[in-house]
Amino acid sequence: MELMDALYKRRSVRAYTFQKVDKATIETLLAAAVQAPSAMNTQPWVFGIVQDRDLLQQWSDRAKKFELDRMTPESPLYEHRSAFEDPNYNIFYDASTLIILYARPVTAWAAEDCCLAGQNLMLAACHLGLGTCVIGLARAWLNQPEVKRELGVPEEYEAVFPVILGYPREPAKPVPRNAPEVLFWRQSA
Ligand SMILES: Cc1cc2nc3c(=O)[nH]c(=O)nc-3n(C[C@H](O)[C@H](O)[C@H](O)COP(=O)(O)O)c2cc1C
Repeated sequence: MELMDALYKRRSVRAYTFQKVDKATIETLLAAAVQAPSAMNTQPWVFGIVQDRDLLQQWSDRAKKFELDRMTPESPLYEHRSAFEDPNYNIFYDASTLIILYARPVTAWAAEDCCLAGQNLMLAACHLGLGTCVIGLARAWLNQPEVKRELGVPEEYEAVFPVILGYPREPAKPVPRNAPEVLFWRQSA
């Protein structure tokens, strides 16, 4: 698949088959991720990988409870609270794999660098016929000090980009895009 094809074909996938993603494929994706640019080439990304559906189901339950407990009517997620109360809603959509990109706080740009690496990973996955979806909902829970301790993640590292990965159950539906809004475009006469 050409780069432009992958750019246009990548869509968030929220339904996966039970086929596991093998280790070599994940290593290929991590190698693609670390080709991303980073501020002063600091490469602040560190990866956490989970390939255990039962564990991800438990994490989903814990993350939903965490979000529900701190939700207020002002919260942007408040209108979706019934989803968080639904025991059948798994925030990781039963994907076989979760990859979390953590940022080492080496520059002020560490989080942005990790997002660039995450996008590389998603495009490479698309190229290989895999589906992905960023799971922002997991981030606040993953950054709880007790969760970091449990996973052996240094306290100063920040979970920036949790992304699920797996073989799509069906072709992803198109998602519309607005036309680019150009605020200014100054040119010489
Ligand atoms: C930072 C970020 C956080 C996201 N968090 C979630 C999430 O928690 N759950 C989810 O289903 N999709 C999540 N998404 C996926 C977006 O909903 C999706 O990218 C958007 O609707 C556009 O669709 P597309 O990715 O198929 O083009 C997230 C995407 C981004 C970039």
